[in-house]
Amino acid sequence: MKRTRTSKAWMQEHVNDEYVKRAQRDGYRARAAYKLLEIDDRDRLIRPGMVIVDLGSAPGSWSQVAVQRLNGQGKVIALDILDMQGIPGVEFIQGDFREDAVLSQLEKALAGRQVDLVIADMAPNISGISVMDQARAAHLIELALDFSLKWLKPGGHFLVKVFAGTGFEDIMSQMRAGFSKVHTRKPKASRDRSTETYLLGWQRVAPDDTATANESV
Ligand SMILES: C[S@@+](CC[C@H](N)C(=O)[O-])C[C@H]1O[C@@H](n2cnc3c(N)ncnc32)[C@H](O)[C@@H]1O
Repeated sequence: MKRTRTSKAWMQEHVNDEYVKRAQRDGYRARAAYKLLEIDDRDRLIRPGMVIVDLGSAPGSWSQVAVQRLNGQGKVIALDILDMQGIPGVEFIQGDFREDAVLSQLEKALAGRQVDLVIADMAPNISGISVMDQARAAHLIELALDFSLKWLKPGGHFLVKVFAGTGFEDIMSQMRAGFSKVHTRKPKASRDRSTETYLLGWQRVAPDDTATANESV
């Protein structure tokens, strides 16, 4: 296939990207690793002994970071619609998170354990039809939030990628009801031109306490 100017420009930018170079040097599978590293340096989400669920995990750089920071104690369960090369310490489930059967597989892998941290970097394939793309992205965020509200232990955290226009206010208000605080994070490795940002639901409130949850951005 003949390369367009846009794809050449993308390749040029990718090759020169500081985080791409760092990822190659540091052995991470994607530059996205530096987004989680920066957020975790600031918010101290990952601690040894935790059970972590990584939604939309491929190619695996967030799982790599999670395993490193668990330092041999704890568990990472990762899920993606695409295949992912194995990472020691990570149990991987391949499947579409929108499907009930895949959710059941994930819940089975938890074997009754509650979760300390859900990290969700899912992004649907872009069709170019923005209404459709936004609806698909919003659906994945909703599902990740539902999963987190059900499975996080009180005090657990939820980090999720959201995009401008994907029902941001609606997600925000649902998160404010379920967590003590909600923070927005835009790590340096997230490109300025990208409409992505990350929401951090800080400390899941026990379901009975949701009425008294504080609000903060
Ligand atoms: C930006 S990438 C995640 C990068 C990952 N955090 C890393 O550090 O390597 C987004 C991922 O979401 C996955 N994804 C999109 N739709 C999905 C779905 N319905 N179910 C599961 N994964 C999905 C994609 O396959 C893709 O691998």
